[in-house]
Amino acid sequence: MKLITIIGARPQFIKAAALNRAFKTLYGSMVREILVHTGQHYDNNMSEVFFRDLKLDTPGYHLNVGSAGHGQQTGQMLTALEEVLLKEKPNGVIVYGDTNSTLAGALAAAKLHIPVVHVEAGIRSFNKAMPEEVNRILTDHVSTLLFTPSDAGFQNLMNEGFKATPEGKISADNPKVYRCGDIMYDNSLYYGHAAEASLNLLDRWGLYKGGYFLCTVHRDHNTDNPERLRAILKALRSVVEKYRKPLVLPLHPRTRKQISAFGMEELIDHKDILIKEPQGFLEMSLLEKNCLMVITDSGGLQKEAYFFGKPVVTLRPETEWVEIVQQGCGRLADADESKIVEAIDYFMANLNKLNFPPMYGDGKAAEFIAGEILAKLG
Ligand code: UD1
Repeated sequence: MKLITIIGARPQFIKAAALNRAFKTLYGSMVREILVHTGQHYDNNMSEVFFRDLKLDTPGYHLNVGSAGHGQQTGQMLTALEEVLLKEKPNGVIVYGDTNSTLAGALAAAKLHIPVVHVEAGIRSFNKAMPEEVNRILTDHVSTLLFTPSDAGFQNLMNEGFKATPEGKISADNPKVYRCGDIMYDNSLYYGHAAEASLNLLDRWGLYKGGYFLCTVHRDHNTDNPERLRAILKALRSVVEKYRKPLVLPLHPRTRKQISAFGMEELIDHKDILIKEPQGFLEMSLLEKNCLMVITDSGGLQKEAYFFGKPVVTLRPETEWVEIVQQGCGRLADADESKIVEAIDYFMANLNKLNFPPMYGDGKAAEFIAGEILAKLG
């Protein structure tokens, strides 16, 4: 069986590692998985580091598309992917999540009548101003196998007309939806211990276990709007001053550029705000596992915080991971300075009262997904 996996952005390298591992260990030479890297992320610390640390196969194709506007970037990927798919003629194409690489991969395959497998299907923010929301909806609706990590994801797909138990042969016109847990949870379990054992990051950065905040900001809605970005940075500074605890801030290149373009460096020029380069998955896992709480606009980090039993303050008005908020372990603070501070205050006062029951499967989602791909597309 030949499968093409299309990846291009940081979170996809991490997700692909789990399935790549499952194919190799469970099915060996029965499955040939070829990775295609669109080149959406290209800096060493946004791409290469994940292949090295997660021992992900070297991509069979690298499309080198790079950064551009949404239309241009997605269009270039689509053109290049069609060529690859025509040449390789795979039994199926696997795409992850909601980036422009996801959409381009799904569209290229669907138009060539190659079954699309969408891992992390059904997730919705109900905010179509987010490019990711458009990417996910379109990808789900051209997919043949849809693997959703949460109950909310499953329900969203049912609400959009997918059937829980389709009869007859599975196809793009008769797709199958699975509720199967989250492969990111598999990864957090698999790499969490390795990270702890192999890195002495906390010592090097002068951090104590349970003694620092961890924050990331990268959504265009936050980074490209000076009012929103200023409100977030001011809130971070006031929290650091109030609690006299360090805050680790690994900066996405887009955020770094915008802070500089808006002249906002002073807002985060503080001895306890540790500005870092984007970190690899092992380093982030270690930082998440040992922090007080996570403050972020990333989808992946909201869940990883939960996996490690840490509360999360989400820098957005809504979230796709509604179950974390319902469980009382997440708060939506948008880019509102006082709401951010209030949410952090709330969790600082309630750290020991939070419960984190398992909500994202049993850590074996990748094995399940690999088995179903073989059974249905083999
Ligand atoms: C993309 C995804 C987002 C995902 C995120 C993970 C889309 C629409 N967005 O957002 O869903 O959460 O990846 O990180 O697909 N840049 C560099 N070096 C790089 C990559 C990007 O400098 O290696 C800079 C460029 O200025 C680029 C900007 O970051 O224009 C944004 O990159 P892009 O891939 O378009 O979006 P992300 O914000 O990374």
